[in-house]
Amino acid sequence: MRKVLVTGGAGFIGSNFVHYLLNKDSHAQIFNLDALTYAGNLANLAGLPDAQRHQFIEGDIADFDKVKELLRQQAIDTVIHFAAESHVDRSISGPTAFVQTNVNGTLNLLEAVRHVWVNEKLLPLEAVRFHHVSTDEVYGTLAPDDPAFAETTPYSPNSPYAASKAASDHLVRAYHHTYGLPITITNCSNNYGPYQFPEKLIPVIVLNALEGKPLPIYGDGQQIRDWLYVEDHCAAIHLVATQGQVGETYNIGGNTQPTNLEIVKQICAILDELRPDAQLTPREQLITYVKDRPGHDRRYAIDGRKIARELGWTPSESLATGLRKTIQWYLDNSEWLAGVRQKQEYQSWVKNNYQQRAASPSE
Ligand code: NAD
Ligand code: DAU
Repeated sequence: MRKVLVTGGAGFIGSNFVHYLLNKDSHAQIFNLDALTYAGNLANLAGLPDAQRHQFIEGDIADFDKVKELLRQQAIDTVIHFAAESHVDRSISGPTAFVQTNVNGTLNLLEAVRHVWVNEKLLPLEAVRFHHVSTDEVYGTLAPDDPAFAETTPYSPNSPYAASKAASDHLVRAYHHTYGLPITITNCSNNYGPYQFPEKLIPVIVLNALEGKPLPIYGDGQQIRDWLYVEDHCAAIHLVATQGQVGETYNIGGNTQPTNLEIVKQICAILDELRPDAQLTPREQLITYVKDRPGHDRRYAIDGRKIARELGWTPSESLATGLRKTIQWYLDNSEWLAGVRQKQEYQSWVKNNYQQRAASPSE
């Protein structure tokens, strides 16, 4: 039985990973440590398959004693580290929490793991793995003709979020180099799918388009992201954590790079088909240009050749099929949505973020 500590497993990708792992590996026992910030939601963990192999622990990755005791008492052999502050816009309005969780929190987690695995030698180092989940944003932004991000691309983070993730990547790598901690790192592009908190582009657009509200496009909408369906990301993480080479980084991407405007139009077209509405159709008419994100990265693209070559992973979902599944999920899960949207914190975020952007894109 593998004993897996998942951090941030009540968030978007972490909870999808918990579902994925319980289905995929009947020998995995999961300990899910999550601080339940605004982005954490126990409803993401409802209806888990074989739920007795999952235990939720509310707690902060920055709590050294708690993490150390958990590692020791449960003889954890695998850590999959998702917990983070993850929203770029929030990192611009309040960077401190990003450094606290993404940098200090990750450092603390590494210290606890070093204490138990390296110093106390609770388990042989050949039998343990620390996997760090990171982002393509550490590489900065690409000009139109630049080659896609490879594992060798120099780091050049542009937002406080990206800078804090870059710092955490460096710490993880350094713990391998200095203390021999068996680590792997993945740097992934934009995810979408079930349970994504409705502050990120795709759920914002789906919900507003359903309700006939303006569809906010930052700046000119020509920014490019490399979209990946979340279950594909989970499969890639599992593969790297179990079969990836210790000390190595793997980039993960979706091989699909529409502009923001194109993806918004695709969502509108799918909703026009699934939920026709004489008043709203075509929903494209709701597109509204708003003030841009400061320092907005223009283009991301992933060179996924290393993970394909070494581990045989490529995405299985196309943007068309993944988007359709995602939109259908939001249509089918109105209770989940209502639960998230009734919270005061969510309502004030939406109000503040979009009120201060309600100006022409050039301002
Ligand atoms: P999310 O914001 O949806 O979830 C983050 C989770 O971490 C929440 O459940 C939250 O409660 C928890 N958390 C926050 N601070 C914590 C702390 N101090 N201690 C314990 N738990 C804490 O994030 P997500 O989109 O699921 O991203 C998960 C990870 O994947 C992050 O590390 C992010 O950088 C990375 N990532 C995300 C994407 C994406 O497109 N969303 C892409 C690539 C990488
Ligand atoms: O690239 C991976 C990263 O993708 C992850 O590391 C982050 O955790 C994740 O949040 C995501 O970051 P982005 O900033 O790319 O995602 P977001 O959904 O916030 O924005 C996607 C694009 O859409 C971006 O160019 C900004 C734009 N946007 C976003 C919102 C919320 C809009 O035009 N309008 C909006 O209302």
